[in-house]
Parts: sequence; C-alpha cells; structure tokens
Amino acid sequence: MDGRPEGDVLMADMKKSSVALRPMLPSDGPDLAAIFIASIEELTGDDYTPGQQTAWASAADDASAFTARLQAHLTLVAGLAGQSIGFAALKAPDHIEMLYVHPDGVGQGVGTALCEALERLARARGVAAMTVDASDTAQDFFAKRGFVPQLRQTIALGDEWLGRTTMKKALGQTSGHSS
Ligand code: ACO
Repeated sequence: MDGRPEGDVLMADMKKSSVALRPMLPSDGPDLAAIFIASIEELTGDDYTPGQQTAWASAADDASAFTARLQAHLTLVAGLAGQSIGFAALKAPDHIEMLYVHPDGVGQGVGTALCEALERLARARGVAAMTVDASDTAQDFFAKRGFVPQLRQTIALGDEWLGRTTMKKALGQTSGHSS
C-alpha cells in the first residue's frame, strides 16, 4: 500500500512526466466523447471491423449520458501542451473501466501516465489487485504494464459482437515500465 494522500499521488505523477493529469470536470464531457470516438475510429481498425468500431463508438452518441457515465467513476483527464489528449476511468475500487488516448497523442506516454495514476490511487486505497477488460488493441499495452490475461469474453454491442480480454495485475509489484 502506498499510504500517501490522493492529492500527493497525483502530484507525483504530474512531476514525473510532461503529461498533466487532473480529475474530470463536467465541462470535459464533449472533449472526452470526441477523444473516445477518434481513438476507436483511428486506432482500433487492425483489430475490429468498421461495424464493430461504429457500435463501440456509439456509446458516446449521447454526450450527456456519456458524461454522466464518466462522472460515475473516478475519471482522470490527461493534457499535453494544454490540450486534453486522453482519459481513464476507475470503477472503484479496482477496475479500469476506460482508457482512451487521442490518435494525435499516442506513443508519448499518455496511456502509461493515466494507467499508472489509477494504479497508484487504487494502491493508496489498499487495493491488492486491479482488473481491466482490455480491447484487443490495448491488450499488449496492458501486458507491458504487468496485467495478465484471465478470461476471453465476447460482448454484444447493438448488432455486433466484440472480443475483449479480462486481465489482472497484482499491485505492489513493479510495473515493468521505466517511466
Ligand atoms: N499495441 C502494442 N503496444 C502498445 C500499444 C498497442 N496498441 N499502445 C501502446 N503500446 C506500447 C507503447 O509502444 C509503449 O511501449 P514502450 O514502453 O516499450 O515504449 C507502451 O505501450 C506505453 O505506450 P503509451 O505511449 O503510454 O500508450 P498510449 O498513450 O499510446 O496509449 C492506448 C495506449 C491507451 C492503448 C491507446 O493506443 C488507445 O487509446 N488505443 C485505442 C483505444 C483502446 O483500445 N483503448 C482501450 C480500451 S479497453 C478499456 O478501455 C478498458
């Protein structure tokens, strides 16, 4: 267990990286919906069909419902150069509900900063292990962070079926990532 207050945990993450992290505000909803849609449309095409991508992205069609869904969780927003570039949502106490980075910001450590912050927050709350239902696109990202596949699932979204993998990471171990 980390033992530090949540504010200290967030500050530590902000100092380690040029990625700025902050809690979501209700006014972030439309920007986060746009990030969600762009991330799915532009980054997941090697793993999902256009029909599957459309069904997945349609979760943000109703921006106010999408905002309410994010606000029901502990949602962090990542900024790069003053622009919101990604977000992650923790379904308390131990489940990473969402992690999305805008295509313009991938490969710059944004996903790592967000995931690391959620892991630190969970650890500070005494959580022993975290889970995530990882998209096929994100499975290698989570594996690099020490998440281990547990269960293959296929879920129905509208008329489409999408595959994903439940993964688990014991906290307290090193992440295997140098940043
Ligand atoms: N496949 C393989 N490796 C990857 C991928 C990928 N898709 N994405 C990142 N990595 C690797 C990077 O190469 C890097 O490796 P390194 O440390 O050896 O250099 C490491 O993971 C960390 O990369 P970051 O730059 O921190 O990750 P990034 O900011 O690009 O975000 C993410 C990764 C979140 C997977 C992003 O690509 C994304 O949004 N993808 C599309 C949407 C998606 O599938 N989100 C997850 C849905 S499941 C859920 O929400 C629970």
